[in-house]
Amino acid sequence: MKITTVHGDITEQHVDAVVNAANSSLLGGGGVDGAIHRRGGKAILDECRALRASKYGRGLPTGQAVATTAGELPAQWVIHTVGPGYGADDRVELLASCYRESLRVADELGAATVAFPAVSAGSYGWPAEEAARVAVETVWAADTKVAEARFVLFDETVLRAFQDAV
Ligand code: AR6
Repeated sequence: MKITTVHGDITEQHVDAVVNAANSSLLGGGGVDGAIHRRGGKAILDECRALRASKYGRGLPTGQAVATTAGELPAQWVIHTVGPGYGADDRVELLASCYRESLRVADELGAATVAFPAVSAGSYGWPAEEAARVAVETVWAADTKVAEARFVLFDETVLRAFQDAV
């Protein structure tokens, strides 16, 4: 698998699937989540609401992942995952699970190129270096058919941390 890092906005990526750093409600928020829902339009929220009305009545658990349409984004799918807060005891395992589960869902969809944000490195409070290390190690070790994992980093500090980790 090719692992790349780019400085930029995940909503502009021409990949098969973009991963959203969502929250359990699946109904939107700030950061990456806000940008994806804003740019992707109502189709994403409609599918998220349908997921809440069916399989995920109590919300998407931390560390799991689920796909919807990408609406008006250049990508075909959004894979929503919920990162752990930095205070969680099992935070490393849960953050690793976000990346593994997102790649598993990507394989189910047949997505060959996947863009990831720095899950949990914003509102959820993880220091960039630690978030980057878990992300890169997990993606590198994953058993997946995904051909390119592209980390799309908004902040320069986070970008550097991911470059170092790669
Ligand atoms: N493209 C790429 N990266 C971005 C973008 C973007 N458009 N916007 C922000 N980032 P965060 P979390 C960076 O807070 O920590 C939301 O409210 C950002 O600078 O989006 O997992 C959800 O609804 C940071 O480096 O995700 C949840 O409630 C990284 O993406 C909660 O925040 C992740 O920051 C999730 O928090």
